[in-house]
Amino acid sequence: MTLEWNGSPLPMDAYWMPFTANRQFKAAPRMLVSAQDMHFTDIDGRQILDGTAGLWCVNAGHNRPTITEAVQRQIATLDYAPPFQMGHPQAFIAADRLAKMAPAGLNRVFFTNSGSESADTALKIALGYHRMKGDHLRTKLIGRERGYHGVNFGGISVGGIAGNRKLFGNALAGVDHLSHTHDLARNAFSKGEPALGGEEMANAVEARITTLHDPSTIAAIIVEPVAGSTGVILPPKGYLKRLREICTKHGILLIFDEVITGFGRLGTAWGADKFDVVPDIITCAKGLSNGVIPMGAVIVKQEIHDAYMAASAENAIELPHGYTYSAHPVAAAAAVATLDLYQEEKLFERAAALESHWEAGVHSLKGLPHVKDLRNIGLVAGIELESAPGKVGKRAFEVYLKAWDKGVLIRTTGDIIALSPPLIINKEQIDQIFNVLADVLKTIE
Ligand SMILES: Cc1ncc(COP(=O)(O)O)c(C=O)c1O
Repeated sequence: MTLEWNGSPLPMDAYWMPFTANRQFKAAPRMLVSAQDMHFTDIDGRQILDGTAGLWCVNAGHNRPTITEAVQRQIATLDYAPPFQMGHPQAFIAADRLAKMAPAGLNRVFFTNSGSESADTALKIALGYHRMKGDHLRTKLIGRERGYHGVNFGGISVGGIAGNRKLFGNALAGVDHLSHTHDLARNAFSKGEPALGGEEMANAVEARITTLHDPSTIAAIIVEPVAGSTGVILPPKGYLKRLREICTKHGILLIFDEVITGFGRLGTAWGADKFDVVPDIITCAKGLSNGVIPMGAVIVKQEIHDAYMAASAENAIELPHGYTYSAHPVAAAAAVATLDLYQEEKLFERAAALESHWEAGVHSLKGLPHVKDLRNIGLVAGIELESAPGKVGKRAFEVYLKAWDKGVLIRTTGDIIALSPPLIINKEQIDQIFNVLADVLKTIE
């Protein structure tokens, strides 16, 4: 299909699109050209309500003037600065702001450019930490089935999505996976945290690591407090607290991948706050800079950072790791302006205040055709559909296309619809999302 843009045909062939059915897309493109607050505008001038904060990242809404101006000012002042053996003020300010926002004790910040880089960085920091302390046996990394930690080799190794792993060989050795916590037999149609099975599932973790590995060989366990990308999988009550106890008992670092759950998504700064569990390391990205400029971060407990300092000579590079664009000045400026905006507009509190209206909207879909489960937490929803026989993903993708036609952007993974709007959404817009979904679901074969 040929599209016109600025009076010329848009060249469609060269761009190999990520996580996209390229041929299908190019035959019928969905092209966004601008965005403001809660809406995208597409190439035909249609307004599309953003039900997914872009890709779980535009938490403060689109094109917010204070962030845009901070970025413009920074580019015009210091467009780039090398981050190795050199600094610039915005990097230190951004790190300080993030440390102050993090759960108590996590106060050292390493910058990356994405969630994937944050995951791999956190895994490396965890491995190096034990080594720095002289604990050379702790080399194993444990993730979870249906976990998503980005697409780099560390992330896909601890991640639990077969489709993201199978093409790429063996990836990291010395990795194992815990069971996921999705249990529809016991917890279907949960409102907020599922009630059943949390402690039992976490106790199974201890049994598994003890039986198979000896916990003294494990460096870290990485989990998302709420798994987003594989379809909104919630932790049953008590699961994360018990997981914390098990990690502490066995000297295993607990990493929370908060790339999605950070920055108000659950109505609190972090998933750690929502579930009242303090991990040893947090990874984040996305909402850190409101999606405006790529940026990620790894926030660690001070003792992890200090172990590196203590074991290294005064003039040594303590952590041989970093990216050309770590703490990029423009990204750092975007992050500081974003964190300011979250605070000024009390957006995390706003998300918490909207949670009950959101929850009512999600569960209003109960009883519609093919709806197998509805679940919600903060401003996140998972709507799981019964798959069409032999055609996993077909029904949800049809809902996606029909919702797009009706001016609402949703996200799907398999036959699960995931919703995660910007935190500036209002009640009428929440109603619009669920009214459109109800209308569309009634038409799906
Ligand atoms: C929990 C989690 N970790 C890591 C990532 C990867 O982030 P990025 O796409 O910025 O590399 C994502 C992306 O959705 C995520 O949800």
